[in-house]
Amino acid sequence: MTKKIKTEEMNIPGHVAIIMDGNGRWAKKRLLPRTAGHAQGARVAEQICDDAWDLGIKYLTIYAFSTENWKRSEEEVGMLMNLLRKYMLSSLEKCAKNNVRVRVIGDKTRLAEDLRKSISELEESTKENTGLNFTIAINYGGRDEIVRAVKKLAKDVKNNSLDIDGIDEDVFNSYLDTAEMPYPDLMIRTSGELRSSNFLPWQIAYSEFYFTDVLWPDFDKKELIKAIEYYNQRDRRFGGVK
Ligand code: FPP
Repeated sequence: MTKKIKTEEMNIPGHVAIIMDGNGRWAKKRLLPRTAGHAQGARVAEQICDDAWDLGIKYLTIYAFSTENWKRSEEEVGMLMNLLRKYMLSSLEKCAKNNVRVRVIGDKTRLAEDLRKSISELEESTKENTGLNFTIAINYGGRDEIVRAVKKLAKDVKNNSLDIDGIDEDVFNSYLDTAEMPYPDLMIRTSGELRSSNFLPWQIAYSEFYFTDVLWPDFDKKELIKAIEYYNQRDRRFGGVK
């Protein structure tokens, strides 16, 4: 059980990462196609950005499409890509108005050219914004991110711009897609699954995990507050003793 604390008295996690699971089951319960669940899930993701900022969260990172999601039907993959396309375009104005900085992590090389172009436009046009740091993981896999980082790092060693003995955790971290971001304090996964599914494996080494049975399309500010209440009960020692 989590204890009730007033939101203004809560210790707010600086960085929250979310695995938005359960869109398919939400749709199935309503006899709707899976794609309807994703559409509702995208609306919820937009709303949660506003709610996160209201609560004082500075970094929000969501898992929109994994490197494994290509295995889904062509129809579902196409629909998810279209949702992301629409999101990139509609966000241009909204993020400018709300001072949101958008970043996309993942391997963009496999994405369609028009989507890559809208992603760069959105990243570029919001890069000076000082409000919520909103990161969307698209064609993201944690192991893939680590392998890409190792390749970049190996190239730098080979061309003598990096000394092997100078490699430490901070240097390695600087080769990841999330280089400029703090590590997540809290990782939330909806829909009752208890795994991290290749989401930010390096970065969540010391994160607190909050799992809820609520399906992503039903997730709202009240549920986000419950996750933060849970976070407030945790005693984070980072391997030390208090
Ligand atoms: C998991 O539900 C969800 C996904 C694989 C995709 C998440 C994508 C969105 C919420 C929409 C895109 C986001 C933006 C910001 C435009 P699932 O399909 O695995 O559900 P199930 O486990 O119930 O089948």
